[in-house]
Amino acid sequence: MKGIILAGGSGSRLYPLTLVASKQLQSVYDKPMVYYPLTTLVENGVRDFCLISTPHDLPRFRQLLGDGTAWGLSIEYREQARPAGIAQAFLIAESFIGQEPVALILGDNIFYGGDEFRRAFAEFQSGATVFGCHVHDPERYGVVEFNSQGRAISIEEKPREPKSNYAVPGLYLYDNQVVTIANNLQPSARGELEITDVNLEYLRRGQLHVCRLSRGFAWLDAGTSSSLHDASAYVQTIEKRQAIKVGCPEEASFCRGFLSLDQLGALTSKMPNCEYRDYLENVVAEAKRLAKES
Ligand code: G1P
Repeated sequence: MKGIILAGGSGSRLYPLTLVASKQLQSVYDKPMVYYPLTTLVENGVRDFCLISTPHDLPRFRQLLGDGTAWGLSIEYREQARPAGIAQAFLIAESFIGQEPVALILGDNIFYGGDEFRRAFAEFQSGATVFGCHVHDPERYGVVEFNSQGRAISIEEKPREPKSNYAVPGLYLYDNQVVTIANNLQPSARGELEITDVNLEYLRRGQLHVCRLSRGFAWLDAGTSSSLHDASAYVQTIEKRQAIKVGCPEEASFCRGFLSLDQLGALTSKMPNCEYRDYLENVVAEAKRLAKES
């Protein structure tokens, strides 16, 4: 499955932070925001990426992530010249997707915990899989309504009167039909190609699977200065308490077998002295100890 990371937008709600670096490059505790969605996809076996951003911000992402080879990945870059909606990503990345299924993740969506993603990726065969996450402010999102059997019956984009508290977070799995569906979309009233319209088309075709995320799952918002601060505090709390990192692409790549232990060791030894390096050195030492034992 291919992976698209959409990291566009002006990030105006984070002004003045976003005057010089886009929202997805801001720090969430100890790493840039885009590390988190990238890690979410790598953890689930995605290796081939297309990152889409504005012409202004794209060079920064390239500087940060390179072509991915250092992490055992492949990352290419495409411009979204004018923000015209999330579903535009499938038009921009059409030749990248080719004939494959694709996972789209928004560059500002931070997820932690639960095993729903792991299962959804492992079981994905066709159609579309999206998620429903209970939130207190559903009117800010795509909102999914379920019937008494737990089947999704409607999705509305930012409804004034939401039919449920279940928001659709920014991770979507699609089979290859998504390219044709996106090509046939009409812009919405706000002039955008809406991801919700893609999901509605799959719903109409009877091919939309909506997986409700359990309570053990965290979906963090980092779109305003205070929610960005809260997200950092959340990550710090987990990392300190559990001595694990959230959103560490190098570790995820190693765990998926995209990087060997030697490659991870070499990568780590090139880092400056910092907590991030200390952490990865521990990962390498622990993996070596386990390898010796077995
Ligand atoms: C977008 C989508 C919305 C989705 C949300 C998730 O909203 O349009 O359906 O629930 O991402 O983050 P936006 O971030 O453009 O407000």
